[in-house]
Amino acid sequence: MQVVCLILLGFLHFVNGASDLDALLELKKGFEENPLKGHVLGSWNANSVGASDGCPQDWYGIACSEGQVMSIALDDLGLTGSFRFSALISLQKLQNISISNNQFEGIVDSDVGSIGSLRFLDLSRNSFHGSIPAELMKLKNLAYLNVSFNNLGGKIPASLQMLKLLKYIDLRFNKFSGDISSVLMEMQNVEYVDLSSNQFSGSLDLDLENSSFVSTVQYLNVSHNSLVGELFGHDGMPFFDNLAVFDASYNQLVGLIPSFSFVVSLRLLMLRSNLLSGSLPEALLRESSMILSVLDLSLNQIEGPLGSITSATLKNLNLSSNRLSGALPERIGHCSVVDLSHNSFTGSVSRVWSWGNYVELIDLSSNSLVGTLSNRTSQFLRLTSLKLSNNSLSGALPPLFGSFPLLKVIDLSLNQLNGSIPWSLLTASVLIELNLSNNGFNGPLAFHSASNISSEASSQNLSLASLDLSSNSLNGPLPSEISRLIHLLYLDLSNNKFEGSIPDNFLDGLLEFNVSYNNLSGVVPDNLRRFPDSAFHPGNLLLIYPQSPSSPKDVAETAQGGKPGSHMRPAIRAALIASFVVGPLQLLSWL
Ligand SMILES: *[C@@H]1O[C@H](CO)[C@@H](O)[C@H](O)[C@H]1NC(C)=O
Ligand SMILES: *[C@@H]1O[C@H](CO)[C@@H](O)[C@H](O)[C@H]1NC(C)=O
Ligand SMILES: *[C@@H]1O[C@H](CO)[C@@H](O)[C@H](O)[C@H]1NC(C)=O
Ligand SMILES: *[C@@H]1O[C@H](CO)[C@@H](O)[C@H](O)[C@H]1NC(C)=O
Ligand SMILES: *[C@@H]1O[C@H](CO)[C@@H](O)[C@H](O)[C@H]1NC(C)=O
Ligand SMILES: *[C@@H]1O[C@H](CO)[C@@H](O)[C@H](O)[C@H]1NC(C)=O
Ligand SMILES: *[C@@H]1O[C@H](CO)[C@@H](O)[C@H](O)[C@H]1NC(C)=O
Ligand SMILES: *[C@@H]1O[C@H](CO)[C@@H](O)[C@H](O)[C@H]1NC(C)=O
Ligand SMILES: *[C@@H]1O[C@H](CO)[C@@H](O)[C@H](O)[C@H]1NC(C)=O
Ligand SMILES: *[C@@H]1O[C@H](CO)[C@@H](O)[C@H](O)[C@H]1NC(C)=O
Ligand SMILES: *[C@@H]1O[C@H](CO)[C@@H](O)[C@H](O)[C@H]1NC(C)=O
Ligand SMILES: *[C@@H]1O[C@H](CO)[C@@H](O)[C@H](O)[C@H]1NC(C)=O
Repeated sequence: MQVVCLILLGFLHFVNGASDLDALLELKKGFEENPLKGHVLGSWNANSVGASDGCPQDWYGIACSEGQVMSIALDDLGLTGSFRFSALISLQKLQNISISNNQFEGIVDSDVGSIGSLRFLDLSRNSFHGSIPAELMKLKNLAYLNVSFNNLGGKIPASLQMLKLLKYIDLRFNKFSGDISSVLMEMQNVEYVDLSSNQFSGSLDLDLENSSFVSTVQYLNVSHNSLVGELFGHDGMPFFDNLAVFDASYNQLVGLIPSFSFVVSLRLLMLRSNLLSGSLPEALLRESSMILSVLDLSLNQIEGPLGSITSATLKNLNLSSNRLSGALPERIGHCSVVDLSHNSFTGSVSRVWSWGNYVELIDLSSNSLVGTLSNRTSQFLRLTSLKLSNNSLSGALPPLFGSFPLLKVIDLSLNQLNGSIPWSLLTASVLIELNLSNNGFNGPLAFHSASNISSEASSQNLSLASLDLSSNSLNGPLPSEISRLIHLLYLDLSNNKFEGSIPDNFLDGLLEFNVSYNNLSGVVPDNLRRFPDSAFHPGNLLLIYPQSPSSPKDVAETAQGGKPGSHMRPAIRAALIASFVVGPLQLLSWL
């Protein structure tokens, strides 16, 4: 303690000539004590100066060079309090301040601009507020600036262009505002620019003629701001020589989508959720000099037809929620993800069957497709997810669907499919989600073909976790084999014509269960009584839910579609509960 006091006295004496050690002890004073992390900064102790040259190189997070502090790295320590940049002014060799993921508060004070040797400044994931001080632009050696995930705001100081060595700037998840093009036009040789999730305004109609930024930038993310206007509308697409990633999603951009055809290094283009309109530039989908791999234009107002995709590089295509129309594309090139859902595509779904062997995910939900699900589908060796919900598909469901080797998700809900449900689907060993609700499927639910009762499937574990067969015309008894679906969490069989009793071997693992609106009878088995009465009634007039006020005495009430229990007169309810408590046997005999 005495040593500390002496050193602090010394510090007061030599404000300019203070040693690095004094500076760090001064910095430490701003930190609030944190008992959990105390042992870390416990090493910051005037008694434990390891090296003879005076550099506290045994202190946690400190690195030295030639006896002087070069780097302060205190990431992920749960530190609170303030970070006194003023304490560090005297550190002649300090290049690196990295204090990401703590809870430092207060402003980034202007003294930071006096740490002239600084190259790397990471203040991300703290609670700094206020704005970026203009003095920060005096850090001529700064190459990396990360202030993401703080509460900073205001405008970016205009002199950003003074940071000629800056390569990385990450400002995302703050409240910065001001015109985005004036910020971008200030950039010099930057490679990585993340301005996303702020309150920047203005348009991306850049006049970047004399800025080297256009040729150096590789990653540009301006998503989740308030940008308006046309995308590079007046001066055209700048000559982005190295741009690989461009994300301007979640803004209010209008007008046509530029073709980006001269941006030959572009791999990922995301313009999701804007107001872009017109037709889709063909260059994005064609075999060309572009190397585009991910294209997300979902949630816009793009219209017109979608031609065949011939690009050999495009892997991931999301055009969901636009106004595309006409027939499905004949070919999709090498795409593995194709989301064309929520558009106005018409014509036969059968084009899908020629989409080849690369495709892993197909989502064509909510279009106006017609036709049947052909048998010729065995080439989908990599398909994991097939969603064709909310179209006008008809005919039967071929058993072959149960045999795609990787298919995990099938959603064919809201169509006009009919015939029986192939047992190969229920017993598939990779399928996890099956949604056939709102179709015309009929016949009984069978877990094996009549001629093959002891098939191999009965000995293996079945994979289905979610089975929705609601709103069809299925009939017959509920097969007790449902209990073989040992991974089942969600089962909806409501609104069909099932009859007979509910098997008492249903699995305990179920989280959701619904058999309402059927013709089931008997008593609800014990292990299903944790589900509310609305899982069983209305419908099932002859099904008894013990403790339930709704059956069979109150058949009349539930048949009218009331929500039993919620507005049941308390007296009746109490009486019914009492009668159950008094004697379940009595109840049974009464049955
Ligand atoms: C600065 O410190 C951080 C955290 O230790 C480290 O990841 C980074 O590479 C360092 N930067 C420089 C330029 O030394
Ligand atoms: C900035 O910091 C955040 C949070 O610590 C991190 O996820 C991100 O990768 C950093 N940005 C750059 C460009 O290194
Ligand atoms: C752009 O930033 C947002 C968050 O602000 C993030 O969700 C998104 O993944 C980023 N885009 C790319 C292409 O990295
Ligand atoms: C670009 O630089 C040239 C010559 O240095 C100059 O004549 C021109 O006005 C500049 N353009 C812009 C937009 O600043
Ligand atoms: C396509 O975009 C929509 C909306 O932006 C999103 O909800 C959906 O998950 C995306 N599809 C895929 C396959 O990622
Ligand atoms: C089904 O598609 C129509 C348009 O084709 C749309 O209006 C409706 O919201 C969709 N329904 C569902 C449940 O997605
Ligand atoms: C599927 O093919 C089998 C034989 O290859 C045939 O018996 C059956 O009718 C076909 N089903 C459909 C829906 O085309
Ligand atoms: C399925 O529906 C078609 C009409 O769309 C009908 O001709 C056919 O008989 C139905 N099949 C079954 C098994 O109900
Ligand atoms: C099945 O599809 C219907 C209609 O698209 C939807 O409302 C329902 O939530 C889906 N079921 C499951 C379990 O996702
Ligand atoms: C009966 O099951 C075996 C084993 O799974 C299978 O190879 C055979 O094709 C099945 N026969 C019929 C008629 O489904
Ligand atoms: C089926 O599941 C049970 C219980 O999880 C497990 O003990 C058994 O090994 C599994 N059998 C197969 C063939 O995977
Ligand atoms: C069961 O399905 C019916 C009809 O779709 C619905 O009204 C009821 O709320 C559902 N009950 C439960 C418990 O999910």
